[in-house]
Parts: sequence; structure tokens; C-alpha cells
Amino acid sequence: MKATFLTDTNAPLIIKEVETPVPADNQVLIKLAYSSLNHRDVWIQKGQYAGPRAGLILGSDGLGTVVGTGRNVDQTWEGKTVIINPSHDWGENPAAFGEQFKILGNPEPGTFAEYIAVDVQYVHEKPTHLTDIEASALPLAGITTYRALFTRAALKAGEQILITGIGAGTALLALQYAIAAGASVYVTSGSEEKIEKAKALGAIDGFNYKEANWFLKAKERTGGFDVVLDSASGKGFGDLIETAKPGGRIVFFGGTNGPIGNIIPNKVYWRNLSILGTTMGTLQEFKDMLAFTAKHHIKPIIDKVYPTLSDAQQAFDYMHEGRQFGKIVLTNV
Ligand SMILES: NC(=O)c1ccc[n+]([C@@H]2O[C@H](COP(=O)([O-])OP(=O)(O)OC[C@H]3O[C@@H](n4cnc5c(N)ncnc54)[C@H](OP(=O)(O)O)[C@@H]3O)[C@@H](O)[C@H]2O)c1
Repeated sequence: MKATFLTDTNAPLIIKEVETPVPADNQVLIKLAYSSLNHRDVWIQKGQYAGPRAGLILGSDGLGTVVGTGRNVDQTWEGKTVIINPSHDWGENPAAFGEQFKILGNPEPGTFAEYIAVDVQYVHEKPTHLTDIEASALPLAGITTYRALFTRAALKAGEQILITGIGAGTALLALQYAIAAGASVYVTSGSEEKIEKAKALGAIDGFNYKEANWFLKAKERTGGFDVVLDSASGKGFGDLIETAKPGGRIVFFGGTNGPIGNIIPNKVYWRNLSILGTTMGTLQEFKDMLAFTAKHHIKPIIDKVYPTLSDAQQAFDYMHEGRQFGKIVLTNV
């Protein structure tokens, strides 16, 4: 089969012929139609991610048709259109994953290929309200933001939430989940155009994080936030603390801008803030995310669809530039 291959850190992705996988016991073989990028894929290529950095088929999200089954797998999976939960081997403790945990696409072969073999426990029928392209873009951003908002930050109806970097695939799904949960959503972005697009999707207001002291303006205009959801980290994280109401929860799952270096201790403990880390989610959270997404007819926002797997490097470069508003998808031919 044809697969995109990362040969080395910072090397461009190449297309390579590799053995088509054979489904093992408890696995299905999926012929992939679409796959979608996550920033993790770009971090891995750039050598900014733990674990192997070469000899990989990347990709954590995909949609396809089941074309083969291993032993112990119900034959009725054959021919079904499915998506894949990329959060593998979480372990027994719902509070945090265990030592065997991995995310599809590193080190296991990922979705930027014509076929993939995966354990049937991670395979779910495509949500019927989504197109194939939308469904291919849901799993990783869905599980991450669902756990962040509802399990970790316990977002409730009537609360005010700030979602940072709204152009991100994750942030845009979080915006839709938070609105569906009855929260009032505010956003940040480095782009005025993206703020306007977010308002069209239901955000009440937005703030440009490139403006000096944007966080003071945000606090003044809104009265502060019960929940802040972030994936940028970096020096700006201290500003997010300023925007939280006393007793507020700041939940984050990314380090796009590197280490958080400027937390003033009393700004956190005096105001009884909670700073919550989160990553991916459990099997149950994935199922709950699918049910919530279907119930509220939530559709991942798609920025761009590239026509072939050979466009993967172009898609990676586009994500690295950060111009997207939503998910970037590859067609797996
Ligand atoms: N731990 C986990 O389970 C997990 C899961 C998913 C993602 N992540 C991490 O979360 C981050 C986002 O992932 P993604 O795939 O959604 O990325 P993405 O679609 O590539 O989006 C990146 C976004 O970062 C935003 N950004 C850049 N600088 C910023 C700043 N100073 N303040 C606020 N936002 C800023 C930009 O938003 P604007 O264009 O609007 O400015 C950009 O659209 C990545 O670091 C990724 O590794 C972690």
C-alpha cells in the first residue's frame, strides 16, 4: 500500500510503498478514505515530541471502510464506514493514563496511509450527521476537548468560558461543545478575521492576543471567566490567570508557545484557582463525546481538504504557518 513516511526529523514526508497490514486477532483492516492533521504530527516531524521521530507513518485521525477482520471480530463490521479512537491503552485509572498509553500514529503506524489495522475496541461507526470528511476530523480534537471541558473543568450551563487560539481545530470544536452545554463563549486569536468567524459560530466576543494588555480589556468587558481553555501555554499563560474569576478553572492540553514561566503564586492560591492539565481521554469519554456530538449535531469545522496523500507535506507546512481556521484533511489516495 501507499503511505506517507517520516524518514527523519525535519526531513520532508515521502510517499513509500509498504506492506499492507494484516489484521491480527481482535483487529479490523480499514481502507482509509480521509485522514486529518493534528498539530502533534507537525511537532513529531520537527523533533519536538517525545518518542520515536523517524521511520513512522504519522496520523491519528481517519475515516474508512472495514475491508477485513481478524479472529474474534464480529463479521458484521465488514463494509461499515468507521472512525478510529486514537487514544489507546489508557489503563485502569480514569484520572490519568498508565504506562502503556499511546496515541495512534506514533509509534503505531498511523492514518496517513491507504490502509490501517486497529483493535476493534477503538473502531466506531461514523456518526450519521457528519460527512465522511467531517467525521475524519472529529476523533482526536473531540476526545481532547470533551474531556478538557466536561471531565476536567466541569463546565456548566450559564458559565463564561474563554477559549484561546480559536483558529485551532481543537479550539473550534471546544467552542461548539461549550455553546451546546449552555455556556457563554469568548475567544482569543491572533487574527481579527478568525475572531469574526468565531462570532458567526456563536462566540459572544473575541480578543486579539497580539494586542498589548488584551487580557485587561477582556476582564473589564466580561467580568472574568469561570473556565479558560488553552493549548498555547508560553509566557501568555500568566495573562490567562488574570482573566479567571476567583474560583475559576484553567484547563490546558498544549504547549504551542513553550514553557509557562510567569505564574505569580498568590494570583493562583489567593483566588483559589485550579490549573488543570489534560490529555486525550478514556474509552468511555470517547463514547460520551460521540453521543454528545451526535445529540447536538456538532460538526468539525473543515478549513481545507487536500486531494491526495502526496500533498501531506504541503498540508503540514500549511498547519505550521497557522493560517487555518479549523481542521486540515488529506484524501487517502
Ligand atoms: N494533550 C493533548 O491531548 C492534545 C490534543 C490535541 C492538541 N494538543 C495540542 O494543542 C495545540 C493545538 O493543537 P491543534 O491540533 O488544535 O492545532 P492547530 O489546529 O494547528 O492550531 C494551532 C493554533 O494555535 C493558536 N495559537 C498560536 N499562538 C497562540 C497564542 N499565543 N495564544 C493562543 N493561541 C495561539 C493559533 O490560533 P489563532 O490562529 O486563532 O491565533 C493556531 O490556530 C498543539 O500544541 C497540540 O499539540 C494536545
